[in-house]
Amino acid sequence: MSEASSPAAQVAAVLKVAQDALGAAPDVDTLRRVANEHTGKGSVLVGLKSSLGSITDVEARKAAGRAINEATQAIDALVAQRLSELERDAASRAAAGEAMDLTEHLGRRTRGHSHIVTQAWERLEDVFVGMGFKVAEGPEVETDFHNFTALNMPPNHPARSGFDTLFVKHGAAGSTLLRTHTSPVQIRVMQEWPLPIYAVMPGRVFRRDTPDATHMPVFHQIEGLVIDKGITFAHLAGTIEAFTKAFFGSDFTSRLRPSFFPFTEPSAEFDVRSASGKWVELGGCGMVHPNVLRSGGIDPEVYTGFAFGFGIDRMAKERHAVADLRDMYANDLRFVRQF
Ligand code: DAH
Repeated sequence: MSEASSPAAQVAAVLKVAQDALGAAPDVDTLRRVANEHTGKGSVLVGLKSSLGSITDVEARKAAGRAINEATQAIDALVAQRLSELERDAASRAAAGEAMDLTEHLGRRTRGHSHIVTQAWERLEDVFVGMGFKVAEGPEVETDFHNFTALNMPPNHPARSGFDTLFVKHGAAGSTLLRTHTSPVQIRVMQEWPLPIYAVMPGRVFRRDTPDATHMPVFHQIEGLVIDKGITFAHLAGTIEAFTKAFFGSDFTSRLRPSFFPFTEPSAEFDVRSASGKWVELGGCGMVHPNVLRSGGIDPEVYTGFAFGFGIDRMAKERHAVADLRDMYANDLRFVRQF
């Protein structure tokens, strides 16, 4: 047998080819294919292994077997090493692809600034996220079901008429509308999110209203929803108070007054006040009505929850002592530049 074709030489040649190919494999799929070519069924190494029996010299047979095993192990080790390298590369590529470009925001700030309603919206999100809430958004064009029926206001319910709804010509008459409040997002979150739920839902809402100092047909609300086992009214009051202090400052306090909303029972309105100031009405809240939980696919015998909702524009107006809501939307630079 010539030196070049001895089993040991063949194994060494295979190992060399395999090492080069594995080192050059650009991705995991190629790596696996190359590895299989050199150590899998039909590979030169497996072929050599099955022909070991034809080597009559015992020592030579042992040496050839050892060489085959060592080469197989070396290839396996190289595959494992390259695999982790490729995975690390892929992970850092993915991280680079997902990185957020925060310079855009900074860039925007150098030329003007966010609208005062946007500022209030972002601060509200920050405070609630800091309290452990997640942020959700829903569609502005809603179904009657989500905006009313699922919120315990079936067709012909008197509370519907209090909303001055703007309808959209789509589907059956009255079936599609511009949402009149952010409460329908509660239903969407209940239907789509796993329990427990700790969510805030800011958004734009619409009502058929003539603009005046305290009303706009387009305005903004933020909705809150907590659904968990054993949630009580005390959790609601505690959350409102914690929010009040975090958002307005530690010298502010909140109070709840009994009220009525179809989607909560019991219901309350909440007001906030600084140590020296007057009470300012902020929004509505209450324990989520069992019918609303059922609309959201949640068993009211197992879970309870609370909800709240209030106007963002109103908060910006109070905070900056703006006399007329319409000024906030006229885009007069003399107004805008003050904030
Ligand atoms: N959706 C109500 C409105 O627009 C506000 C509201 C009241 C929201 C009570 C709530 C709530 O979640 O529990 O007038």
